Amino acid sequence: MYTNILTSYNNGITTITVNRPSKLNALNKVTIQELHAAFDIADKDTNTRAIIVTGSGEKAFVAGADISEFANFSIDQGKELAAKGQELLFDFVANLSTPVIAAINGFALGGGLELAMAAHFRLASNNAKMGLPEVSLGVIPGYGGTQRLSQLIGKGRAMEMIMTAGMIDANQALAYGLINHVVSQEELVPLTEKLASKVIRNSSVAIGAAIKAINAGYEDGVDGFKTEISEFGKCFGTEDFKEGTTAFLEKRKADFPGK
Ligand code: COA
Repeated sequence: MYTNILTSYNNGITTITVNRPSKLNALNKVTIQELHAAFDIADKDTNTRAIIVTGSGEKAFVAGADISEFANFSIDQGKELAAKGQELLFDFVANLSTPVIAAINGFALGGGLELAMAAHFRLASNNAKMGLPEVSLGVIPGYGGTQRLSQLIGKGRAMEMIMTAGMIDANQALAYGLINHVVSQEELVPLTEKLASKVIRNSSVAIGAAIKAINAGYEDGVDGFKTEISEFGKCFGTEDFKEGTTAFLEKRKADFPGK
């Protein structure tokens, strides 16, 4: 069905794997379109309660946008590339109501790190290397990197990483708060799945509302506290809330209908 990605489903978790290992999983146009379709399908699938995004092979998560595709672009084509990419993939993923976890299994550079940063949180294997090397190509991050890296690790660190075009290793990324856990390559997918399983035990409706409220704080002209109040209120009208509170009072485990 797809040329450059793989998808699989197991126990409420859909895993989307970028699968162009000969090009270190670089994001070309087709891959971005396929990722958009796969994320959209997974988000709409009521059985999918969490999504894991990773890269195939042992070397790379995603080594960036496909440089060979944009090397000859004009100013307008460059703008269009960033705008379309943000709309189809990066903002799209960040704003999904289904939680997205990135398992960074190697190089996450440029658009690769931007994809990982668009996910709701990140884990990495100890061989992972992360960076936004765009200025070494004469361009800047265009898939949300200037914004999300600053949000995640702070302005000064983001300035340094972007200006030096350097790579940081997994332990440095952990110290910066860019990723939440570092494990061996063998442990990466099992730990990601374990965390996803923990997430999906909870109310999917409440999780979607939490994502919306957290993201609201980073949007221009939106009051995150007001969004929180509104999303908090909406939860009181859901079946999940009824089930969650009833189960607690009845001293049993909640079985959330996801509505
Ligand atoms: N776009 C297009 N092709 C890419 C790519 C990218 N971002 N990253 C890697 N590739 C391709 C290489 O061209 C090479 O293809 P080839 O075998 O047909 O020549 C293949 O993937 C393997 O990469 P290679 O450079 O040979 O591996 P390496 O181990 O020597 O180096 C990197 C690994 C990640 C350091 C290096 O590939 C690199 O710097 N990539 C670009 C990173 C980047 O600038 N990303 C930001 C883009 S905006």
